[in-house]
Amino acid sequence: MVSVTKKREYTGEYPDKTLYLPGPTEVRDDVIEAMAEPMFGHRMDRMTDLYTTIVEDTKEFLDTDNDVIVLTASGTEFWEATTLNLVDDGRVLCPTSGAFSERQANVTERLGKDVERIEYDWGEAVKPEDVRATLESDAAAYDAVTVVMNETSTGVRNPIEAIGDVVAEYPDTYFVVDAISALGGDYVDIEAHGIDAIFTSVQKAFAMPPGLAVCVVSDAAYEREVETDDSSWYGGFRRCLDYYDRKGQTHSTPAIPLMLAYRKQMKHMLEETHAARDERHREMAEYTRDWAREHFDLYAEDGYESRTVTCIENTRGIDVSGAIATVSEEYDMVFSNGYGDIGEETLRIGHMGEHTVESVRTLTDAIEDVADL
Ligand SMILES: Cc1ncc(COP(=O)(O)O)c(C=O)c1O
Repeated sequence: MVSVTKKREYTGEYPDKTLYLPGPTEVRDDVIEAMAEPMFGHRMDRMTDLYTTIVEDTKEFLDTDNDVIVLTASGTEFWEATTLNLVDDGRVLCPTSGAFSERQANVTERLGKDVERIEYDWGEAVKPEDVRATLESDAAAYDAVTVVMNETSTGVRNPIEAIGDVVAEYPDTYFVVDAISALGGDYVDIEAHGIDAIFTSVQKAFAMPPGLAVCVVSDAAYEREVETDDSSWYGGFRRCLDYYDRKGQTHSTPAIPLMLAYRKQMKHMLEETHAARDERHREMAEYTRDWAREHFDLYAEDGYESRTVTCIENTRGIDVSGAIATVSEEYDMVFSNGYGDIGEETLRIGHMGEHTVESVRTLTDAIEDVADL
């Protein structure tokens, strides 16, 4: 292979930038500092204290009695693991409405599974009635339905509660939710809507350093785990959860410093409460939407706008990458352009994690200044 990438020495001399990306996002100083502890072994009692604390605190924060796995991986791992664990010979229904749901459908196909898509235009939301119509057409055919709760590429929040209620009418079909850019900033009642597996990456609305993924697993999904050599080893629900039951630890060596950071941040999140965190995210989303409507337009279908990421349609034809570069250089704040093909057509503001309406306003003021709005 001919590599065109040249080494660019990491100098350590970079100005701090405030992150308004759709993840990673800002992390509190004491959470960063929590990682700087002398190392300990992953089979020591101290590890059991740490891991059982973060697992049980996560259940409390997410308001669920379902099992929780915290795994050293990015959330993408659970696209693979949920597919391998829950899908046997049956089909997988993957509604696609943006980059991440399309990628999830592709990953599912790569794993050799039979995927049926419901294709929406980017910016549209997945509709429960379409899921119902497809399931009704051949109820026995589907092992799983997978939905991305928050399409980070389009700023659409899909109605997973209503979709979950539809899937729950089909007890042999498992409901899998990618909540990677939502959980922690957008509350969902997991059990009430029959969600069998829902997962996130901690660098998004949990506001932690990247490197851990969290998956909440229903009893039915645990029982279901496909009993073949095809189920996931690393992300196997049984392997992870049985190890937790026996030892209160993880099956292989975890990123211990990240788990120390997790412990610290989850305490902050519990202190704030999920209700208050949800409300703060609602306020930030409303502020950002109002600002976007005043100066541009929203990319997301009306009524389905995200709580954590606003995707703004560049109706004024501003130079998006130029504005991002100037805001970064002059204000030390970073926001995002559109995803993939809609890079210049849209801009995205991540208002998640530790941000507030005031901090988001600082960014929108800077954009107004730079783009002459
Ligand atoms: C909806 C969604 N799914 C999956 C991913 C991939 O997450 P990770 O990079 O943490 O594996 C992302 C990342 O932005 C996302 O927004």
